[in-house]
Amino acid sequence: MAQFVNPFPGMVPRKMSQSELARAIMLDISAELEAVHLYMAHMEAADNEDAKKVLYDIALEELVHAGEFTSVLYRLDPTAAAKAQEGFDEVRALLGGPAPAEVAPTSPSQSTEQESQPPMPQGLTVGSLIEAEQ
Ligand SMILES: [Fe+2]
Repeated sequence: MAQFVNPFPGMVPRKMSQSELARAIMLDISAELEAVHLYMAHMEAADNEDAKKVLYDIALEELVHAGEFTSVLYRLDPTAAAKAQEGFDEVRALLGGPAPAEVAPTSPSQSTEQESQPPMPQGLTVGSLIEAEQ
């Protein structure tokens, strides 16, 4: 049986303060990223093209959710926003140019076109391992 994380670790049973809500949103962001990890791992281990396409589409939706939560977090917690900006700035200083998250797609059709093509995983899949044993 699946075990779900406690959605209110370390919190008392009342409405959350703004700082508690910010920490809860951080937990929500991590849950979205964990979902992306899970769906991408399942996609990469699958041979069924329809399932791979759906898993990839849902993984992209979870990234959108992570972005939505991050936007809310930065509104609730300006320090978190400032520290994230520091991170972007440090990487820009090291590598040059804007971080991918700082670059808007050049056109909506270009973005949609890229998202409709799931990346083909390189290497072994569950199916190829089964076939190798036969
Ligand atoms: Fe989600």
